[in-house]
Amino acid sequence: MDDFFTLRTVMWEDGAVRMVDQTALPTKLAYVRYTRPEQVAAAIRSMVVRGAPAIGVAAAMGLALAAVRSRATTPAAFVSQLESTASMMRETRPTAVNLFWGIDRVMAKAKAAASMREARAAVIAEVKLMAEEDVATNKRLGKCGADLIRDGDTVLTQCNAGALATVGYGTALGVVRAAVEQGKLVKVLVPETRPALQGARLTAFELSRDGIACTLISDTAVGHMMSLGRVDRVIVGADRITRDGYVFNKIGTYQEAVLAKRHGIPFHSAAPSSTFDLKRSHEQVVIEERSANEVVEIRGKRIAPKGVPVANPAFDMTPPELVTSIVTEKGLIKEPFAKNIPLLIS
Ligand code: MRU
Repeated sequence: MDDFFTLRTVMWEDGAVRMVDQTALPTKLAYVRYTRPEQVAAAIRSMVVRGAPAIGVAAAMGLALAAVRSRATTPAAFVSQLESTASMMRETRPTAVNLFWGIDRVMAKAKAAASMREARAAVIAEVKLMAEEDVATNKRLGKCGADLIRDGDTVLTQCNAGALATVGYGTALGVVRAAVEQGKLVKVLVPETRPALQGARLTAFELSRDGIACTLISDTAVGHMMSLGRVDRVIVGADRITRDGYVFNKIGTYQEAVLAKRHGIPFHSAAPSSTFDLKRSHEQVVIEERSANEVVEIRGKRIAPKGVPVANPAFDMTPPELVTSIVTEKGLIKEPFAKNIPLLIS
């Protein structure tokens, strides 16, 4: 059963980055192969690859492509070339802290090396390790969260915090997968997640592919389903969890948390250590504003009048008082979050 959930989203293959083209899903499971860092940056911006842990590893692999292509003759020149690629990667998406974590991790390896040959090898070894670690971490996190789920539970999620948002296995959906591996019957309620429809396109795709029961709902049906007693718990991912315990995640998460409180339903966020930002409090986080086209169009078809003003925040912020617990690979974190987060995450 250990190798049952096998979808891999981002891979380092023979000096190139191979990834699932998430814009083609659910129509087809297609892969793209990149050899230049600019291609990876563009893929992150256009959400060919998305999801906090996945973009962290993708950006790191973008740096490894720069390392492969570098003609620098000294370690200092090599680091400076990588630094300019790192700046480009840092500009791709602002909210998911894993992006910056992935870049910093590779830069630290490049800077620590004594020779050019050592630096290039160290960068490539690091990104391969990061990909392996991502899956192992999510499996540990999944096991830790699976005990929260009872046989027969229906779990409401948001967006896609699954294999497609990571290198493999997933965070929120990793918890579901681990519960299924324990032999529990689990059903996932999947909001479509407008505007980019990650729930409908990606979560419904990967759960159906793995034979995990799911029901797709419109975003507007969440409160109604809770009021009917059809949600046992909410488990979402996170793009950044600040030191004061605020969970930044896909837009729509906050309203799920408020409704969960109203209905006495436990609300959990599942996130690896790399999603925690111990340096910042919630006021210091930039919430990405994406193109108006995502709102006025659905899959390229216009659904709103031309010229209508649009706001398109891609993430929202759930305050700690609405969070029952945070599931990590190191264990569960409970209130008081501001005190307990630094105790477990370093
Ligand atoms: O805009 P996206 O699709 O990158 O947003 C992704 C999310 O908000 C996910 O819920 C989050 O990254 C958790 S990933 C395991």
